[in-house]
Amino acid sequence: MPFPFETAPTAPAIPITFATKTTWDAIARDLPEQARRFASANDFTAKPGKCLTLPAADGQIGHVVFGLEDETAKSRDLFRPGALPGLLPPGVYRFANAPHDVRLATLAFALGSYRFGRYRKAEQPEVRLVPPEGVDVADIARMAEAAALARDLINTPSNDMGPEQLAEAAQAMASRLGASFNCITGDELLKQNFPLIHAVGMASTRAPRLIELSWGDPAHPKVTLVGKGVCFDTGGLDLKPSSGMLIMKKDMGGAANVLALAQMVMDAKLKVRLRVLIPAVENAVAGNAFRPLDIFRSRKGLNVEIGNTDAEGRLVLADALALADEEKPDLLVDLGTLTGAARVALGPDLPPFYTHDERLAESVATHAKRENDPLWRMPLWPPYDSWLDSKVADINNAPSGGFAGSITCALFLQRFVTDAKSWLHVDIYGWTPSAKPARPEGGECQAARAIYKLLSESYG
Ligand code: BES
Ligand code: MN
Ligand code: ZN
Repeated sequence: MPFPFETAPTAPAIPITFATKTTWDAIARDLPEQARRFASANDFTAKPGKCLTLPAADGQIGHVVFGLEDETAKSRDLFRPGALPGLLPPGVYRFANAPHDVRLATLAFALGSYRFGRYRKAEQPEVRLVPPEGVDVADIARMAEAAALARDLINTPSNDMGPEQLAEAAQAMASRLGASFNCITGDELLKQNFPLIHAVGMASTRAPRLIELSWGDPAHPKVTLVGKGVCFDTGGLDLKPSSGMLIMKKDMGGAANVLALAQMVMDAKLKVRLRVLIPAVENAVAGNAFRPLDIFRSRKGLNVEIGNTDAEGRLVLADALALADEEKPDLLVDLGTLTGAARVALGPDLPPFYTHDERLAESVATHAKRENDPLWRMPLWPPYDSWLDSKVADINNAPSGGFAGSITCALFLQRFVTDAKSWLHVDIYGWTPSAKPARPEGGECQAARAIYKLLSESYG
C-alpha cells in the first residue's frame, strides 16, 4: 500500500483520538490516570488543530489526542487531520475514533504527508497510518498520488520543467498507463496549424509544443482535457514586474492538474475515451517575441489581435481548444492558471469555474464540496462579450479596462468552443501561498479531484 498507509503493522499502532471542546471531558475521563494528568498539566483543551502525545507507562507514546471543531461549529475544516503528519513523531498510527468525516480525514492525512524532496534530502515525515475500516483506501491513495504528481510538476523550477520536460512527464505517464502519446514541436506547429501556440512560444530557446495523450475505448464517451502548460510566464514584452513574475514557474499548473486528473481516470479505468491536450510553451522575451498589436490567424480561423502579451494562457488554450472541439467531444474540460483577477475575486483557494451546462455546474459544485476541493461558479456574462472586440481583427486577447478579468478570459475561450456537447473551464491558482492542514506551501492540486469524482459517478 502506498505511502503513508500501513496495512500490515508489525507492532500495535498508536491510537489517535479526535476530541472537541465538548467531547474532551468525557474522553479525558476514560484515559489512564497518568495520561489524563499529563494532558491537564499541558493545558490541553482540544482546541482545533492542537495535538498532544501522551506517554504510556513505559515512557513510549501511548496515545495521541487531536483537537477538532465542534460538530455544530459554523465552519469546520474537514482536512484538519492533514496537519498530523507534520506534528507527530515517526511511528505507525491509527484513528481511535471517527473524525468528522473519516474518508476526508484519511485523504487529508495522505495529502498532508507530501513533501517536495527533489533538491534536498526529503524531510519526508516517517508517519504512517493504518487505514480506518470502511474507507476505500485504494481510491484515496489514487487521489493522493495524483495530487503529489501535480505538486511535484508545479514545484519543480522552470529550469528543470520546460516544455520538453513537461512532455516527458506526459510520455512517462502514457507508457505507465497504456495511453498513446504524440507531440508536435517547434515549427511543425505552424505546418499543422497551431499559430497561437507557436506565437507565444517562439521567443524561448526551448521550443513550444502541443502534447497529446489518448486512452480508452473509442466507443466510450469522449472526454477531452486541456491544460495550460506555460512553463514560465515572464509576461513577454509586456514584462511582469519581479513581484508578479516570482512564482510563474507555476504557470503550467493547468497542465499539471490535467495530468493528475488523467492519471486518476486511467488508473480507475473509467469508461471514457480520454484525450489530453497540453500546449506547452515558455512565454519569454527575445527579438523574435510576439508583440502588442500583432495579429495572428488562429486555428479556429479567428484573427486575434494581441492586446497584451501577458494574456498568453488564453492564446495557447485557444488553439488547443479549437483542436479538441473539432471532434465534438461529449465533455471538454480546460484548466489553467489564467488570471490574477480570479485570485482577486475569490482568493487562492477557491477557483472559479464556468459552464453553460446547468446539470454539469450542479454536479461540479456538489463534488467540489464533497471532496473538499472547493470550486465556485462564475458567469459567462454575455454583456461583457463585446469587451473583446478589436477595432481591426475578430477579437482582442486583453480587453482594456481590466474589469472582470476572469470572466472576460472565459468569454475569450468560449469563442473557440462551438461544437463540444458540454464545456467546463476552471481558472485555477495551482498554488498554496502559506501552508494549511493537508496543503503544504507550494504547488497545489486544484479541481482535479472534484472532476475525477464527477467523472467516476457518470462513467465508473
Ligand atoms: N499566468 C498569469 C495569471 C496569473 C498571475 C495567475 C498571477 C496567478 C497569479 C496570466 O498569464 C496573466 O498574466 N494574466 C494577466 C492577463 C491580463 C494581461 C489581461 C493578468 O491576470 O494580469
Ligand atoms: Mn501571463
Ligand atoms: Zn500565464
